Amino acid sequence: MNNKIINIINKQALTAKDLSFLIGLEGEERNFFLKSIGNNYVDSLGKKVFFRGLVEFSNYCTKDCYYCGIRKSNTQSERYDIDDKSIIDAAIFAHQNKYGSLVLQSGERSDKAFTERITHLLKEIKNATNGELGITISLGEQSEDVYKEWFDAGAHRYLLRIESSNRDLYYKIHPEDEKHNFETRINCLKSLQKIGYQTGTGVMIGLPYQSYEDLANDLLFFKEMNIDMVGMGPFIEHTETPLYEHKDALWSLQRRFDVSLNMIAALRLLMPDINIAAATALQAIDPMGREKALRYGANVIMPNITPTIHRKDYTLYENKPCTDEGAEDCSNCLSIRVEMAGREIGYDEWGDSKHYFNRTKKKQ
Ligand code: 5AD
Ligand code: FES
Repeated sequence: MNNKIINIINKQALTAKDLSFLIGLEGEERNFFLKSIGNNYVDSLGKKVFFRGLVEFSNYCTKDCYYCGIRKSNTQSERYDIDDKSIIDAAIFAHQNKYGSLVLQSGERSDKAFTERITHLLKEIKNATNGELGITISLGEQSEDVYKEWFDAGAHRYLLRIESSNRDLYYKIHPEDEKHNFETRINCLKSLQKIGYQTGTGVMIGLPYQSYEDLANDLLFFKEMNIDMVGMGPFIEHTETPLYEHKDALWSLQRRFDVSLNMIAALRLLMPDINIAAATALQAIDPMGREKALRYGANVIMPNITPTIHRKDYTLYENKPCTDEGAEDCSNCLSIRVEMAGREIGYDEWGDSKHYFNRTKKKQ
């Protein structure tokens, strides 16, 4: 069996069948695969792990995804919107603590008051940090003009998960209406690339109805779309969402966790020069989940620096970690954890995706 794994690792072009096999590995063989990837990729990509301070500044959302705890129809969710000054203060905190980059994330809104506010905020953050802080945004589907406006205002990376690249599965986890359109999501990714963003996407792992083959095709989708960054993690059911009714049919949490690490390692094999984030959802299952991801292929970690009073309200899924700690505690705790995983922190570096520079031939 290990020979089969070695053969696949050494192949030039991986097929869906190869990837499904790797994604489904268990026990000793799985350990062998994860270790082989872990030992190799640090040699080629380097030991550095990059921090992105994550600010989840609002959970108001106009969408109704069936898996998400902050979906519009969840009346149990306590809604909040952090004021601009506190967001800028969080950015200054990230800058002073040498995080290199910031991620601004919120529920999805596309009204003018919102899009203009973001443009203004991006400029303010750039000013307040001497243009030194890299900014990633994760604010859902928008028009190409809005994406361009935000790019010109200073954002240079964008995260928009496809959630599942299988169109049928996509419509099992989203309402089938014009607000949740699969093709729109793909077109948004293309617009982002066209404008010049480093473009990130990702999927949830262990969704109801999802197979290893679906997951293998997700990885091939990232490759085909020439994606620069990926964030993917286990699906964690939330009681106040429609998908909760499938809770008994889901893989065990441990299985979702194990398959997530297999996915990260298989993606690292498939796309050696992209950025892969160690998703926070991993830590909701295993306290050392993100560090394990760093061992087997991930090179980005996103410490939560949202002001603590609101952290508990950004509950996309339950059991979300670090909702009590202040930003200082989180960053101390993380630096120790990263070192325990045998990696180094790229302080004060943007940690851009090497793939972006390889594909665009731009200078880093
Ligand atoms: N479990 C895991 N991840 C989730 N997300 C939303 N809801 C859940 C959940 N229940 C992820 C989605 C979204 C990202 C911001 O959070 O993939 O893109
Ligand atoms: Fe779509 Fe939260 S409602 S991801």
